[in-house]
Formats: sequence, structure tokens, C-alpha cells
Amino acid sequence: MKLISKLAVAAGLVTALSSATLAQDLNGLTIGFSQIGSESGWRAAETSVTKQQAEARGVDLKFADAQQKQENQIKAIRGFIAQGVAAILVAPVVATGWEDVLGEAKEAEIPVILLDRGVDAPQDLYLTSVASDQVKEGRVAGQWLVDAVKDKDCKVVELQGTVGSTPAINRKKGFEEAIAAHANISIIRSQTGDFTRSKGKEVMEGFLKAENGGKDICALYAHNDDMAVGAIQAIKDAGLKPGSDILVVSIDAVPDIFTAIAAGEANATVELTPNMAGPAFDVLAAYLKDGTVPEKFIITESKLYTAADDPQGEYERRKGLGY
Ligand code: AHR
Repeated sequence: MKLISKLAVAAGLVTALSSATLAQDLNGLTIGFSQIGSESGWRAAETSVTKQQAEARGVDLKFADAQQKQENQIKAIRGFIAQGVAAILVAPVVATGWEDVLGEAKEAEIPVILLDRGVDAPQDLYLTSVASDQVKEGRVAGQWLVDAVKDKDCKVVELQGTVGSTPAINRKKGFEEAIAAHANISIIRSQTGDFTRSKGKEVMEGFLKAENGGKDICALYAHNDDMAVGAIQAIKDAGLKPGSDILVVSIDAVPDIFTAIAAGEANATVELTPNMAGPAFDVLAAYLKDGTVPEKFIITESKLYTAADDPQGEYERRKGLGY
């Protein structure tokens, strides 16, 4: 057998073995997942990846869509506790108001793992949090703008995510940190678009009207790609060119933003992986097996993509992945 074929077979065996091990670890367990809703393409992808990861490991995943409401998430978590699930995954819509229900899960000895957003609650109420460094995401987006405009004056409009959510709070903070030392760049308007495409468009229309039909705006910073895609439509409707008349930088790296980047209508995005469940299930399996306590914060990567990064290829790689 040629060396390459041998290596391929060996690699195949390793993959087969590790999937078998993974499958055994959580196989047959019931795990609850309280998802925020389906406000964005990224959220839809996170839901499908979590379901796929659960299926691959033989997990019976109980999925609850909270339709953007914290009260629905709390109700779902209480339901999971009553059912006696082996663990609970939760993507918390906002940061505050979790202490009681997480305390109830702790009392019932059910480990809770936070996915993609944080909470303002004592850290002993959850096993771990799998999320990006959201302040860094804002910083990466802000640094891209600093490098793009150099010394030119640049008035920025900002579309914030859901009020009270950690990505909205932290992405704002990181961006402001990145532009702080650059007096030529200032945020002139900032409003929530609730992480949705339709709200992003609506709020951008207001920004354009208020700022001389958009002529006074140099750049849009959107806390997610979906709001950016909605805003791009508003900019086009106003007779301006997104990507050149108004620069567009956002976060998530969903397929639609790569289409926009390829068309020159958006400039940069910061990737947020939708695979939060994979690392979550890995550490949960170890914890349930022999009590291995994971790191409190498992941080995913935040890579910047621009037109120089084969946007069409990135679109192709992501389409059909549940976005
Ligand atoms: O919490 C992650 C954020 O939530 C994503 O960036 C956004 O698209 C989603 O709605």
C-alpha cells in the first residue's frame, strides 16, 4: 500500500474511533437546549449544528425555541429540570435575570452550559460558557475601519444587537475601544436593530434620513451581518453605493454577507462559529464521565474576512450549512 493511502486509512480509523468514543460518551442521554429564537441566519445555523452534533453523539436533544423572550427560556429550563435531563444548554437572550432558574438547576444537580452569550450571575451557577470574545469582535471590526479610513474624517452609524444582550454590550465596547485614539472617527448615531434584517433596514432608513440622505455617513458598523444586509438594502434604496459611499463592517460571517462582499457592497465581517455545541458536548462528556471540570470560559475564534479572502469561496463553503 502506498504511503498516502496508508495515511488516509489511518486517518479514517482515527476518525471512526473518535466518533465511536464520542457517541458512547453522551449516547442515550437527554439534554435540553433553550435557544433564543431564529432572529438571524447565524442563529439558524447554530440551531442546526447543535441538532447535528447531538444526533452524531446519540443525544436525545429536547429543543425549545424561546421566540426572543427570556420568560420562555426560564419556563423551558424549569421544564427540563422537571424532566430530569442530564444537562441543559442555554443561549441566554439577555444578560440579567438568570440567578433563580440557574440556582434551581444547580439544586437539582443538572449541569448548565451557556452557549454564545453570557449572563450576569455567579459563575458557580453554570459549568462552562462556550462563546466568542465579543469585546475582541468589536475591536477587530473597529481596527478594520481605523486601517481602512486612515486619517480621513469618518462619521459612523452603529446598529446594535438586542438591548441587554452580552454581544450588544461587548461589541459596542470593543469597537469604541478600537477607535478611541482616532479623533477622525466618531459614532454619530447608534440604535438597536435587534439582530434582525428587517429592523436593520428600518433603523438604517432613519439614519439615512437624519444624515443628509446618507451623504454625511462614512461607515456602518452593525453588530451582526443580518442587520448589515438589511441596511445595505436601505443604502441602495437611498441611491447610494454600500461598500464605497458608505463602508460596511459587521460580525458573524454568514453566507449572505460574503455575497455582499463579493459584489463590493460590504467590506468586512468577523467570523463567529455556529459550532458552540461541539466543544460544549466534549467537555460535558468528560465532566459526566469522571468529574473533569472544564475551563469556565471556552473562547472561539474571531477571524476577520474582507474582499481579499475569496468571498465567493467562503459563500460556497457555508451555503447549505443551515444558515
Ligand atoms: O449571540 C450571537 C449573536 O446572536 C449573533 O452574532 C447574532 O447574529 C445572533 O442573533
